[in-house]
Amino acid sequence: MDLAIVTRGAGDRDTHPVMVNSPKVADPMKTIDDVVVTGRRVLVRVDLNVPLDESRITDDGRIRACLPTLTALLARGAAVVVCSHLGRPAGAPDPKYTLAPVAARLGELLGRPVTLAADTVGPAARSAVAGLRPGGVVMLENLRFNPGETSKDGAIRGAFADQLALLADLYVGDGFGAMHRKHASVYDVPARLPHAAGYLVRAETAALHRVTQAVQRPCAVVLGGAKVADKLPLVSNMLGIADQILVGGAMAVTFLAAQGHPVGRSLLDGDLDAARRCLDQAAEQGVEFLLPPDLAVAAGRTAGARREVVSSTAVPADRMALDIGPGAATLFVARLAAAQTVFWNGPMGVFELDAFAGGTRAVAGALAESSAFTVVGGGDTAAAVRALGFADGAFSHVSTGGGASLEYLEGKTLPGLAALAGEHVARAAAEGAIDEAAVQVPR
Ligand code: 3PG
Ligand code: MG
Repeated sequence: MDLAIVTRGAGDRDTHPVMVNSPKVADPMKTIDDVVVTGRRVLVRVDLNVPLDESRITDDGRIRACLPTLTALLARGAAVVVCSHLGRPAGAPDPKYTLAPVAARLGELLGRPVTLAADTVGPAARSAVAGLRPGGVVMLENLRFNPGETSKDGAIRGAFADQLALLADLYVGDGFGAMHRKHASVYDVPARLPHAAGYLVRAETAALHRVTQAVQRPCAVVLGGAKVADKLPLVSNMLGIADQILVGGAMAVTFLAAQGHPVGRSLLDGDLDAARRCLDQAAEQGVEFLLPPDLAVAAGRTAGARREVVSSTAVPADRMALDIGPGAATLFVARLAAAQTVFWNGPMGVFELDAFAGGTRAVAGALAESSAFTVVGGGDTAAAVRALGFADGAFSHVSTGGGASLEYLEGKTLPGLAALAGEHVARAAAEGAIDEAAVQVPR
């Protein structure tokens, strides 16, 4: 079998000669344990952007993930105003993106009624919030029904943030999945209200800290899925941290194509030159970069498609790669068994089709078996793992953030975390835009 393995054999790396970007994590971030919430109205920004099939929630992981924060606030006698986005409506109300199914599910999980306001900051929201008592929960309608939420214009966002801030005495940021968005409810509201992080944000940042800054070795990063172009900067940054990078899914195909191998009709995404630069960087930095030696291919991406296994360096012109092959799965599982830290983002293949779920199942199984610190990153990867029957408890941490966890691993400072740490609050105060004393957390 042709081994498409790039670069050196394993060796110990306890030091990093290369510069690695590390996000300025909000260690100074206060959590809800540091603030008095009793009798206060608390605006909690969560990420309830769940996958929906019409109005049926197909994975409620993100709703479950915010329960610890919400139940703690309610138990301490706060009145809770929950807010989130859902999908990408165009800045105006759109029934297709109503949070109604999400409010209903949250009510079931909390075991208490969740009143959905018919608007975000309008009369419906104001009256629902005015009637709110300690222990009560109101959910605002989809924040992206208001163009101010996502506006690139700071003044427009700020005007919306002003109205959101009027609804509460305190702001809690717990929407980790949206922390990479410089949006009103994520970035601008904490500059206007006393603020603290929720438990999900604390857990997410602690887990990602362990895969970037407090790493136990060997450290393996497993990457798959499509959206390759989006993930190349992460590869580049993680080359300075990881001991091994294992690549499957459409991402592997892109690297194989970058090496000059034929990939048939496989899905290709991303710039081959950028992929080649990552391969060169891996070689220079002595990081083992593993591509699948074999692939499962078919003529098309359909349920009845006939599966064949081919060498990854010889995909026939009329076939497309839909999964890593059994040889690759065995190789990846062996590497993962030796790792002490693993971060995984992106399925190894089209796991929705049973014939092509083998690679993803093998990686999930290896992580589930492992005693390493294992982080499954990304809403889609988490949903894939759950769909294959793995419980969240099988991993050290299942991140609710796709883009957010990837940007964290890229070494970027996430606007939402920076805001909770108060960095931009200090800046806004220095510019005279806000009164810093007004946003200090009450003790
Ligand atoms: C996500 O699912 O990626 C987050 O909820 C953020 O949503 P967005 O990508 O539409 O900003
Ligand atoms: Mg996204």
